Amino acid sequence: MCGIVGAVAQRNIVPVLVEGLRRLEYRGYDSCGVAVLSHGEPRRARSVARVSDLDAQVKESSLAGMTGIAHTRWATHGAPVTDNAHPIFSRDTVALVHNGIIENYESLRTMLRDKGYEFVSQTDTEVIAHLIHSMYRGDLFQTVREAVKLLHGAYAIAVIHKDQPHTVVGARQGSPLVVGVGEGENFLASDALALAGSTDRFAFLEEGDVVEIALDGVKIVDRQGLPAEREVRVVAAYGGAVELGPYRHFMQKEIFEQPRAITDTIPQGDEFTANLFGENAKDVFADIDSLLILACGTSYYSGLTAKYWLESIAKIPTQVEIASEYRYRESVPNPKALVVVISQSGETADTLAALKHAQSLGHAHTLAVCNVATSAMVRQTELAFLTHAGTEIGVASTKAFTTQLVGLFVLAVTLAKLRGRVDAKQEAAYLGQLRHLPAALNSVLALEPQIIAWSEEFARKENALFLGRGLHYPIALEGALKLKEISYIHAEAYPAGELKHGPLALVTEAMPVVTVAPNDTLLEKLKSNMQEVRARGGELYVFADADTRIVSEDGIHVIRMPEHYGALSPILHVVPLQLLAYHTACARGTDVDKPRNLAKSVTVE
Ligand code: G6P
Repeated sequence: MCGIVGAVAQRNIVPVLVEGLRRLEYRGYDSCGVAVLSHGEPRRARSVARVSDLDAQVKESSLAGMTGIAHTRWATHGAPVTDNAHPIFSRDTVALVHNGIIENYESLRTMLRDKGYEFVSQTDTEVIAHLIHSMYRGDLFQTVREAVKLLHGAYAIAVIHKDQPHTVVGARQGSPLVVGVGEGENFLASDALALAGSTDRFAFLEEGDVVEIALDGVKIVDRQGLPAEREVRVVAAYGGAVELGPYRHFMQKEIFEQPRAITDTIPQGDEFTANLFGENAKDVFADIDSLLILACGTSYYSGLTAKYWLESIAKIPTQVEIASEYRYRESVPNPKALVVVISQSGETADTLAALKHAQSLGHAHTLAVCNVATSAMVRQTELAFLTHAGTEIGVASTKAFTTQLVGLFVLAVTLAKLRGRVDAKQEAAYLGQLRHLPAALNSVLALEPQIIAWSEEFARKENALFLGRGLHYPIALEGALKLKEISYIHAEAYPAGELKHGPLALVTEAMPVVTVAPNDTLLEKLKSNMQEVRARGGELYVFADADTRIVSEDGIHVIRMPEHYGALSPILHVVPLQLLAYHTACARGTDVDKPRNLAKSVTVE
């Protein structure tokens, strides 16, 4: 989704800004642009193609300046055309970039039109640029502080003014913004990753903060307008994440990083302890009687998987809800429920809003399972479990999902232990299984050549059905999501027992049916469902545990997984589905890491 970069330096900052945009490309965008103060005038370049095109433009036009802002835009108000691309100018004096949505832009536009401002874009952003222009009395920092009070909605902005050649002012409310601290130069960005090449020192702004960056320092005021200190932290871990190495796409790299990501996420030490979730987790866990899990997309499916573990291992009632549904419905709050938000980014607008909604309803106990330690979600929850997937660039989530599953499994066993439902022997067995998981994953990754062979068949299809049962039903859902989001093949997942209640009507020779077949207690039932498909001529593509005795025959293609992996089996079974989606998308020639219309970090509603 939209990305911001800003910089003040004593050198030409355009290459830094464009490199920052390149590092933000993974979030998804459909236009981009950069503006600098050049000999006292704002000048800009914008493109509805890729950042590489913008780079070519700035080189050709020799765009240069020491103070500037840049942006990748994911269209909300107005089509992805050049006029709507940021930076947006006001009267060739103010240049501004914006992430988020301004809800009261129509009334502001009317007010500004009455003052004689002309609107040349369809964006909500243009009102902010004109508003700041109209309110400017010689101090940009002060002006932005006053202007943001008139904005309703979610935003992060960065703005420059031609009369203040060494200043960039930023503000955040609902969308992330970080300050990068350099030597005699300073930066702003929506994601620290954007600045990884320029600094490793970051200050993470709080909701309502307004910031001024200058050559020699940074000034911050909080939402009350009071001077605020934000801790400067060294975050060095971003460097390698944007390098592709020997892989064709980031998604492929990230699929193959899963053994390492899981190793880093598995807790150290020889026991499952509440401390893994925060200092007062033990007291919180003793006080709760149920869980309410809120998430979006792939993270929602990790929540659905966790429900099976939480109810079967810890015997704790668990409800899982899509964040955007929960936030707008009238629910019955249970103050004894632990609200768990699951998010790779920790910035997803719907999940954040759902968390705030739950808190406003009186849910005091909250936990984030998240991949970004500095994210809003981690800061706004009482407890947190950090997944250590490392930066995930591919829009389709892979290693974030499997590390979330590890975190949620640890949560289930920890709660079970605190409730006396897991003895020391069982605890040691779970720990042993977790520790062996990276090796087991490596043997699943070795199936790639067989999956490539299947993907060539799938690339010719327009529909696919995914079946799973029990703990593996959410895995079927995740497999279908992966396939549709990157290969654009329509895919649906069903719990196999539900087949006869509708989707069986779709099954013909043209319908590939992917089946997740672990050797669990539901295997015989699943085999009957497979027969229902075969009887209608459907082609089955089965990922079967080695000990299931499901064999390839006419219309049944089988890829053999390792022996059944017990409760942790979903973490193994999702991997071939990731690879199937990936290679099918490659065979269809789609833009795997940046699928059309999708964004990595969905920071608007
Ligand atoms: C977007 C991404 C998905 C992700 C979802 C939730 O839709 O494309 O891959 O699962 O957001 O993101 P989160 O960061 O909250 O896990």
